[in-house]
Amino acid sequence: MSIRRIRVFPDPILRKKCRVVRRVDDKIRELAYDMIETMDAASGVGLAANQVGALQRVVTLHLPGDEDAIILINPEIRDTEGEREIIEGCLSFPGYEGMVKRSVSVKARWLDENGSKMKVTTEDLFAQVLEHEVDHLNGILYIDHLLEHEKLDAAGTHVEEGEPHMHDIEVEVHADHSDDDEVEPQESDIEVVHTTIKFNDLYSESLVDQMHYDLRKAGYALPPSESKAGDRVESDDPHLDGGVILDPEHKH
Ligand code: NI
Repeated sequence: MSIRRIRVFPDPILRKKCRVVRRVDDKIRELAYDMIETMDAASGVGLAANQVGALQRVVTLHLPGDEDAIILINPEIRDTEGEREIIEGCLSFPGYEGMVKRSVSVKARWLDENGSKMKVTTEDLFAQVLEHEVDHLNGILYIDHLLEHEKLDAAGTHVEEGEPHMHDIEVEVHADHSDDDEVEPQESDIEVVHTTIKFNDLYSESLVDQMHYDLRKAGYALPPSESKAGDRVESDDPHLDGGVILDPEHKH
């Protein structure tokens, strides 16, 4: 498994329609496993294949609280019910979030990584992410659903969960060297292996800078002169929460 670079707005591949997967084979599984590693490293809840440059109808989801991520091949929304307004973010718009309209309940089906048919009727975050990711496969982005144009906010203004982090992160990885799965491992069996996930492994810094510029130019984000404390400010340092400074003390 390996981390793949996440494409950011306005990369044209995000506007392409992904192709139906004809055969669930090792190549598709490899793509999906890489997507899971990438999504988890970016603290994302969902990822679509075109976000890592592959035009295949493959989605990965990792809902908060769930131990494992899931793989959805050729996912389809079969039916929806109701309407609600909800805050949303996207790994292809690191540092931003906005209010969109989504369904209350979603009925969907897909194939899992073994080609088995799966289906679900669900609500809440699962429903929201299903709609968001199937949109991605059709070249639709959440900014297309914004309730008000020019209303992207700094990520973390409303929700913190599932926001991509814009800096290197230290992760404490534990290796369990005990032989017996049944027995609770002794402390001596656990090796703590530190690792760092580099921002640069996930994103191209220059393209993230370009994204901030293009979002402002297209009127989705306020130009720095009009921003108030807590809004976006111009920054050459994409590690600085992606040009978003939440604490006005740190403006420069
Ligand atoms: Ni997204």
